[in-house]
Amino acid sequence: MSTTSRPERPTALITGASQGIGAAVARLLAPRYDLLLGGRDTGRLTALIDELTAAGPVRAQPLPVELTDDAALAEALSGIDRLDALVHSAGIGELGTVAETPAATWRQQFDVNVVAVAETTRLLLPALRAAGAGAGADVVLVNSGSGITAKAGWASYAASKFALRAFGDALRAEESGNGIRVTSVHPGRVDTAMQQRVVRHEGGEYDGSLFLRPESVAAAVLAALTASRDAQITELVVRHQG
Ligand SMILES: NC(=O)c1ccc[n+]([C@@H]2O[C@H](COP(=O)([O-])OP(=O)(O)OC[C@H]3O[C@@H](n4cnc5c(N)ncnc54)[C@H](OP(=O)(O)O)[C@@H]3O)[C@@H](O)[C@H]2O)c1
Repeated sequence: MSTTSRPERPTALITGASQGIGAAVARLLAPRYDLLLGGRDTGRLTALIDELTAAGPVRAQPLPVELTDDAALAEALSGIDRLDALVHSAGIGELGTVAETPAATWRQQFDVNVVAVAETTRLLLPALRAAGAGAGADVVLVNSGSGITAKAGWASYAASKFALRAFGDALRAEESGNGIRVTSVHPGRVDTAMQQRVVRHEGGEYDGSLFLRPESVAAAVLAALTASRDAQITELVVRHQG
């Protein structure tokens, strides 16, 4: 029998937890994991932690950091020496045709959606490997349908999500021997603030009922995290039913 079983309360770090899909993941994981909740809006992070602790005996800490600030990120993540799950939900969605998208938008989108994910993961790899050598560790990348298919008007966002998919595949190949599983979750449109901005850009009327609920994407993240350890769910595509 293994002497390196999972600690009674494993720890999960969720980026982008201050709203949207990341906040829904935090709500779903709270009964099972101690949480480190990333975001920039400290007010929203504090409100979420108040909500979680009011609902039950939960241990959750805010991790407010601008993910594209390398020094601030390294400072925020220092001292984490064991991490059982890392869920990357932070991301931005800037739309526009190739003709109307300047270099600054491409850089910003890649900086948040790809480089910050890679740097956060790199800094946390020793902590993930420490958990991986025991009961195993997980990295979940909240990707997008745009990480599989690139539509007109979505080039820089889709390219960043294709790159994120490549990052996940390479990370899996490199780290599976260290007990780290990597899952890319590809949701369709989700009823969040990001989607409201997308619909505004498209000039449409917003109707959240037409989109996936953030909780449904969180359920896919939980499915990846709770898969039996002999298995790894490498990708999950989640579409709206209807
Ligand atoms: N909504 C959709 O339809 C949809 C569909 C498919 C995939 N996705 C993907 O799902 C993920 C979450 O999207 P969402 O809809 O939940 O978006 P959202 O509601 O806009 O939330 C985005 C989150 O990312 C954080 N964030 C953004 N830029 C950051 C930065 N530079 N540094 C630190 N944190 C940053 C935000 O923090 P603050 O608010 O605190 O600044 C917020 O917590 C994204 O990766 C997105 O691409 C979304």
